[in-house]
Amino acid sequence: MSTANGDFEIQPHQACEQDECHEHECEGHETAAIGCGGAATMESEQEFYDSLPDGHMIRTFMDEHATIRKSLDALEAIANKLKKNPEDRDALLLEMSQLGGQLVKAEPHHQREEEVLFPVLSQRGLAGPPSVMAHEHIEIRRLKHILADKPSLHMGDDGLPVKPIVDAALVLVSTLRQHIDKENRILYPMSMQVIREERDWSQLKERADEIGYM
Ligand SMILES: [Fe+2]
Ligand SMILES: [Fe+2]
Repeated sequence: MSTANGDFEIQPHQACEQDECHEHECEGHETAAIGCGGAATMESEQEFYDSLPDGHMIRTFMDEHATIRKSLDALEAIANKLKKNPEDRDALLLEMSQLGGQLVKAEPHHQREEEVLFPVLSQRGLAGPPSVMAHEHIEIRRLKHILADKPSLHMGDDGLPVKPIVDAALVLVSTLRQHIDKENRILYPMSMQVIREERDWSQLKERADEIGYM
């Protein structure tokens, strides 16, 4: 379910209108499914992760998210240091550029979501949330490329302001963190409700393998 600002809602658990939310009973009901999958805490995210079999496509997505989150933490620290006009500006710009490059290399992650997972969710009647996520990928990609390409152009020239780069980095950190939270806590749990057959997941994983990993 999309909101006016392009986000999709985390419905409270009560959205299921049941005393206790049973995932089977929510099948096909998009709002309720978001509620069931949308327990927005790190603890429930960990519980969901632990419930996934080793090698499951969704588990791999979440492992990759953990790696991306570490890069975002590092990127945020560098951006905050650069804000203060430090003497080691060029070294920080180089680090930022390298982190931008690492994030660009995460492209197969987004590609697998867009080309393998999202279409199946849409085919099965869950079109809104994947569409919001795919739309966010566009802005995330744009910002990643700025960070991979621009910092090196500012190295060796203290006259060039780094503020636009710092701003882009901090927007990327915030946008991508929120994006990951929504996928881990809402979209992926919903996916497990919508796609129930192990055989279906095996077929999806084969297609994911063809795209490759970050
Ligand atoms: Fe995504
Ligand atoms: Fe993702």
